[in-house]
Amino acid sequence: MTDSPGLDFLVDKSDWHRHRLDETAVPDVSEGQVLFRVDRFAFTANNISYALAGDMLGYWNFYPAPDGWGRLPTMGFGEVINSKHPDVAIGTRCFGFYPMSRYLRIEPSAAGPGGIFDGAAHRAALAPAYNTYTPCEGDPLYQPEHEDALMLMRGLFMTSFLADDFIADNGFGERAVLISSASSKTSIALGYLVSRSGRATAVGLTSERNRDFVRELGCYDEVVTYDEVQGLDATGPAVYVDMAGNSALRRNIHELFGDRLMHSSTIGATHWDQTAGDDEGLPGPSPEFFFAPAQIQKRAADWGPGELQRRLGEAWEGFRKFSESWLEVRRGRGREAVERVYEDTLAGRTEPQHGHVLSLWEDS
Ligand SMILES: NC(=O)c1ccc[n+]([C@@H]2O[C@H](COP(=O)([O-])OP(=O)(O)OC[C@H]3O[C@@H](n4cnc5c(N)ncnc54)[C@H](OP(=O)(O)O)[C@@H]3O)[C@@H](O)[C@H]2O)c1
Repeated sequence: MTDSPGLDFLVDKSDWHRHRLDETAVPDVSEGQVLFRVDRFAFTANNISYALAGDMLGYWNFYPAPDGWGRLPTMGFGEVINSKHPDVAIGTRCFGFYPMSRYLRIEPSAAGPGGIFDGAAHRAALAPAYNTYTPCEGDPLYQPEHEDALMLMRGLFMTSFLADDFIADNGFGERAVLISSASSKTSIALGYLVSRSGRATAVGLTSERNRDFVRELGCYDEVVTYDEVQGLDATGPAVYVDMAGNSALRRNIHELFGDRLMHSSTIGATHWDQTAGDDEGLPGPSPEFFFAPAQIQKRAADWGPGELQRRLGEAWEGFRKFSESWLEVRRGRGREAVERVYEDTLAGRTEPQHGHVLSLWEDS
């Protein structure tokens, strides 16, 4: 156990530029509860989207916070430092969703080598996958030397794997898959999967500032900046996968391709401050939110138990190795590091090759 006080990074739910760090007591553990030391967590634009969808999709409900403030979920590793649950041993290291805090207390409703499930009432409405802490020991994807890559990209890669599979499964995207925010890790994963499949070409759309980085990645067959979109060859069918959420860009793509757009999929909103425009009168198909759990369910039925995990694991290993050619992990510790990375990510000032891994412990 430790005596160090808790520290919670809080975001003002009505103005994300306002944030603060609150000191707390070390959480007490009652019968049936478990306390994690939040060792390290990754922070990318995806975590900012949790604020954007916080009210709509329940991301503000992961962890209790003072009125008007929220605690963003992040993917990380934690270690059990106190346990009054018979099936959770002190010292168990787990991958899962942690707050930007030093401690997380959970109330497992079930626990075993495959997962510890937080059954706390405030998380009851969240998808089961969001409430699961996976012990490293029973985790087929866990490799201690690749914890950083797992924190930074495991969840993002899974989404892109399922999106690529969805596109193929539905017969969309035989020719071109247009992917916005091509410099984001989620898009890089999708570009990698599409171009490696040989089925379609991956076209990356990005900002001028990130163009050279995206070209050098080698996972897109073509790269254009947002200003060059009008020059795209729009004579053949294409699919649009929207990671930017930028409404003006979406309109440009739809107007350019019209009915040759076979599908328009909404996955992200990295350009979170440019999402306000409406889609009224948009030519081509209506944009559809990509719902990854539905594709998981479908493939579990198509392929039988275990096969999706096997394919995912195999693809992950290829992508993780590919990421070694461009990903630079940046570790930051303590209050200032966490505040700086949060502010830079919110403002879109981070370098795309950087993967930020943070901790509120000075010694982590
Ligand atoms: N729905 C799902 O299940 C799901 C799952 C995973 C990820 N996603 C989404 O995928 C997106 C990418 O996440 P990530 O973690 O992979 O991102 P990331 O690696 O941190 O991406 C950074 C890139 O996003 C763009 N960007 C970020 N902040 C910006 C800002 N304030 N203004 C303008 N551009 C900004 C820039 O790309 P460009 O210059 O290339 O535009 C930047 O290089 C997120 O919106 C996330 O929510 C969704």
